[in-house]
Amino acid sequence: TKVAVFASGSGSNFQAIQEAIENGELDAKIELVITDKPNAYVVTRAENFGVPVFAFSAKSYESKAAYEAEIVQALRNKEVEWIILAGYMRLIGNTLLSAYPNRIVNIHPSLLPSFPGKDAIGQAMEHGVKITGVTVHFVDEGMDTGPILAQAAVEVVEGNREATEERIHTVEHELYKKSLIQLLNPTSKLH
Ligand code: GRF
Repeated sequence: TKVAVFASGSGSNFQAIQEAIENGELDAKIELVITDKPNAYVVTRAENFGVPVFAFSAKSYESKAAYEAEIVQALRNKEVEWIILAGYMRLIGNTLLSAYPNRIVNIHPSLLPSFPGKDAIGQAMEHGVKITGVTVHFVDEGMDTGPILAQAAVEVVEGNREATEERIHTVEHELYKKSLIQLLNPTSKLH
């Protein structure tokens, strides 16, 4: 299955997915990494794995529709079938949604519908919840609102954001891998 990973940051989820592919757990190929942050660390990670990167700067386009049309073109050139969002910090617009209906998934660092949007971990700690978690969901036009595919709980380390974040990232990498195996390799006997 040909996929593209969209990311704006560090790209640890990209790397976890790429490693699952390379070690044979996930039958897929990341054809392209799409980023709106040409200096993000995900670009270095992609280069290290030899995965092509399409980097764009949103502000040099007139509209979301304009840059998404270029993204769709890049995806079609590579025959990409699924879009995997992994820390992509932009709302997906109609151009991409209608080109990939029910074929876009996202991972979010909270138990949705709690704490959607930016800095979900900070929101959860600010609220004082004891349990937060990770959600994998289909993407619709809303902010972190599409149908839920999988969730896992993570205990907050009180007063320690860094440690909480580390737990969440570890769980994210495992949950995204499992979810993608179910979604892209439904007949796989391993899981
Ligand atoms: C993850 O916590 C993801 O859930 C959120 O952004 C973060 C991306 O981390 N949407 P990374 O870039 O994959 O390391």
